[in-house]
Amino acid sequence: MAYQYELAYVKSIGALLLMCIVIDLLFLSKAVTPMQQRKEHSVKDQLYASKHSSQMSASEIHNHLQALNKPGVKTILSPDGDTIVCVPIDQQLAFDNPLLRNHKIRKQPPSLAGAGVSFTNVKASNQFQQLWQLAGNCPEETIPVRQAKKEDLLRAGSVAPFARKPPENNETLAQKHEHAIAYTGGQYYGAQASINVWKPEVQKNEYSLSQVWAQAGTRQIDLNSVEAGWHVDPALYGDDNPRVFAYWTNDSYNTQGCFNHFCAGFIQVNNNVTLGAAIPYSTYNGAQHEITIAIAKSDKWGDWWVKIGDDFIGYFPAEIIPRLATGTATTLMWGGEVYNTRPSGKHTKTQMGSGVVPYKGYRHASYFTYIFYLNATYYLITPSNLELIQEFPNCYSIGLSPVSDPNEEKSFYYGGPGLNSQCP
Ligand SMILES: *[C@@H]1O[C@H](CO)[C@@H](O)[C@H](O)[C@H]1NC(C)=O
Ligand SMILES: *[C@@H]1O[C@H](CO)[C@@H](O)[C@H](O)[C@H]1NC(C)=O
Ligand SMILES: *[C@@H]1O[C@H](CO)[C@@H](O)[C@H](O)[C@H]1NC(C)=O
Ligand SMILES: *[C@@H]1O[C@H](CO)[C@@H](O)[C@H](O)[C@H]1NC(C)=O
Repeated sequence: MAYQYELAYVKSIGALLLMCIVIDLLFLSKAVTPMQQRKEHSVKDQLYASKHSSQMSASEIHNHLQALNKPGVKTILSPDGDTIVCVPIDQQLAFDNPLLRNHKIRKQPPSLAGAGVSFTNVKASNQFQQLWQLAGNCPEETIPVRQAKKEDLLRAGSVAPFARKPPENNETLAQKHEHAIAYTGGQYYGAQASINVWKPEVQKNEYSLSQVWAQAGTRQIDLNSVEAGWHVDPALYGDDNPRVFAYWTNDSYNTQGCFNHFCAGFIQVNNNVTLGAAIPYSTYNGAQHEITIAIAKSDKWGDWWVKIGDDFIGYFPAEIIPRLATGTATTLMWGGEVYNTRPSGKHTKTQMGSGVVPYKGYRHASYFTYIFYLNATYYLITPSNLELIQEFPNCYSIGLSPVSDPNEEKSFYYGGPGLNSQCP
């Protein structure tokens, strides 16, 4: 599985800071009065498990939206069409989860003071800007939440229950979930990487994501997985913009968990990053964009925190992920995943990464770099034993290779075009 690439290492850090989308500064924010909180207990109680939308009537969809979209103190209309509502931190959706009714918000992310390699010791830029930030900001003690739309719920029936990855079973694992990933097994307190961001072509009803996973438990039974990265998911959002996300499940993707704030689980404490909002992406032979993602266990409470860019933005509370909360992650993974529906038995043109094969290298193929795990004393360590998984290497593949720095061994290029003569 070893690949030898000829690579260009030259990399302009300045270029990373350039927005590839230039838009006018439109100050569209306006204050709205908090809506009357609805008391739809039957709907509310279902929110910790998101419901299959194809079984929902029009009024159920209406109620589900009312319950998902918590009232806020301010509404911001993003230039890309998203509506962002600033929801008071203690009134966010997560607290509708029965397991979190008595939860006291924890504002102390994992302390990484002892880290041998500091989180800021990366050469690439951590900075990223979300389009909505050009139109306003959320006050302290609130969190920006992208509102779910009626169309989002209506579309969802065709792929999977709303805002959830399709369950992993023997059939979907063998046929539909396609990966190009690096993984390591052991005892870990967290994972980090800087991920190149692109806008792959994605077929309707499929998705393409690039992310970090931390997992514990048993596959197809009680696998706990906490995940974060960027994805293109037209079924979920109605467009093909790359967006930043966080994901969790406590039952191997079966019935529990979801992306972002689309079900009651993730607790956000940061007022500046919107999960599910679009981020700048790279262009072929042009400016390159990265996001730095970390997922790390809180030593005190057992929560798993998500860091996006410079900030720990929130956490998956210990209550909803018992296997990860009471132990360590036993598997970490970094890389790409495509959900391929194989209509009429053929592969589709859904791309992974940049859509380009790994050997094309920098500014062509997508990459992960500065890959670390966290050990028990919160040091970032370069993994020495990465193994690769690529179920359909003629469709999507991965090759370990230096990216940012010729001496940095734990980086890789990954991705591919999907349908081609070798991937029918
Ligand atoms: C909010 O995020 C943007 C983009 O990452 C960053 O430039 C800005 O400094 C952040 N503001 C605060 C208050 O953290
Ligand atoms: C899935 O496959 C594994 C290994 O091949 C097998 O042990 C297991 O019984 C299968 N599960 C189901 C539900 O078919
Ligand atoms: C996952 O969490 C739900 C509550 O949110 C609980 O009912 C279920 O038993 C858990 N599943 C597993 C496999 O731990
Ligand atoms: C974590 O790594 C650091 C740096 O290599 C090392 O000093 C420390 O002993 C490690 N902690 C554990 C628990 O192995």
